[in-house]
Amino acid sequence: DRSHELVVVANRLPVDSRTLPDGATEWVTSPGGLVTAMESVMRTVDSGAWVGWAGSPGEPPAPFEADGMSLYPVRLEQEDVERYYEGYSNATLWPLYHDVIVDPEFHRGWWDSYLATNRRFADSAAPVAAPGGTIWVHDYQLQLVPRMIREKRSDARIGFFNHIPFPSVELFSQLPKRNSILRGLLGADLIGFQRESDSLNFVAAVRKLLGYHVDGLTISVPGVGAAPMREVEVRTFPISIDSSAVSALTEDEEIRERARALRHDLGDPAKVVLGVDRLDYTKGIRHRLKAWGELLDDGLIDPHDTVMIQVATPSRERVEAYRQLRDEVELTVGRINGEHAPLGRPAVSYQHHSFDRREMTALFMAADVVLVTALRDGMNLVAKEYVASRPDLQGVLVLSEFAGAADELRAAVLVNPHDIDELKSAILRALAMPEEEQEEAMRSLRHQVMENDVQSWAHDFLEHLEHAGREAQAAV
Ligand code: G6P
Repeated sequence: DRSHELVVVANRLPVDSRTLPDGATEWVTSPGGLVTAMESVMRTVDSGAWVGWAGSPGEPPAPFEADGMSLYPVRLEQEDVERYYEGYSNATLWPLYHDVIVDPEFHRGWWDSYLATNRRFADSAAPVAAPGGTIWVHDYQLQLVPRMIREKRSDARIGFFNHIPFPSVELFSQLPKRNSILRGLLGADLIGFQRESDSLNFVAAVRKLLGYHVDGLTISVPGVGAAPMREVEVRTFPISIDSSAVSALTEDEEIRERARALRHDLGDPAKVVLGVDRLDYTKGIRHRLKAWGELLDDGLIDPHDTVMIQVATPSRERVEAYRQLRDEVELTVGRINGEHAPLGRPAVSYQHHSFDRREMTALFMAADVVLVTALRDGMNLVAKEYVASRPDLQGVLVLSEFAGAADELRAAVLVNPHDIDELKSAILRALAMPEEEQEEAMRSLRHQVMENDVQSWAHDFLEHLEHAGREAQAAV
């Protein structure tokens, strides 16, 4: 049915289907920043569609309506889950694009599955866009989809946005089939990245590996078959959150009460420090716990009046590097608590599950300090969510320079998380920061986050897409 003016294509649908013990299906919000951001964008769009995977292998649910949009589930077999999703997407591309924090694995069988599965996404998306409509493809799992869609729907406007970093050309060059990835992406009219460095890395890879003519951030791409040369625009669009919706939740009396109760349940400590991440090796959870453990060992933090909460949402649990990370984190938390926790109260309260939006807001309201210590991160929306949750202008954000958010949130306490001593001093500084200083920093951070929300991000992207994709000038 060619009826949707805007079609979003992403590996995951905004909701995951879970089968309950009694056989009934339950829908839960999917994890991660992509869904956090795009879900609120799509709620404001008329006649939108979202094409993606419902989170389990085998027969997918039939297309259905939710939150005013049409959801089109894509089928992934168990083998696709293992090769396309856990393999090529999350054991090859994910570590490579995050600057090889762990070693990427290269397996030829995984590529075949990536190719075949990308085709299935393209085949599902192409028929549902209205004539001349917009198809917006998201993230590293689907880099071949823009070109595959162009081959079927040359009338459509095709955009691509990468939610994670794009690596330097030296690292990207390691990737077998790298040129197919670049050609796949260049099927789009507009390619968006989080940081300026990502856009520049991509353009440098295209110039070096494909030898295409590049003018600033505009690339001249040979047409497919008899089609003329096209211009592809590359541009930086730092993603954001639904800032006013998050901020509004802090007015909810039930959530305010919940924030007080959380502190009370922890024994009303003087200070609460919070970390919230998917349990992923890119997030620097090990570095954070190392710093925290040492501060307790050194006697610089008193566990009788200071508690750390670490929310670690389960993620990609069948991928080896994630299993190892979980074991290490749980061992370290156990050791810290064994050595330092007073009877009846944790030194680190570790939560290995996800929380809903309301509970998250209560946590942010209860936290004096939030630690974002990513070793590499496309943006990091937790940093922005914390800021949006503090209209009272209290609280301190400690933020890694290696998160995209650091380009905008300059008033945070910026750290290099690899430097454990620096991280320790940053935590102490944050804990000791006087109220007026917190207020000044938070005011500046809020200005940034409230002005630049996800609606303006999407608007900006779609407006650029509208004007992108011209035929190249004959002179090129
Ligand atoms: C990041 C990625 C998303 C991904 C999310 C959750 O935010 O950019 O594409 O969906 O993590 O990861 P998962 O593998 O569970 O979808």
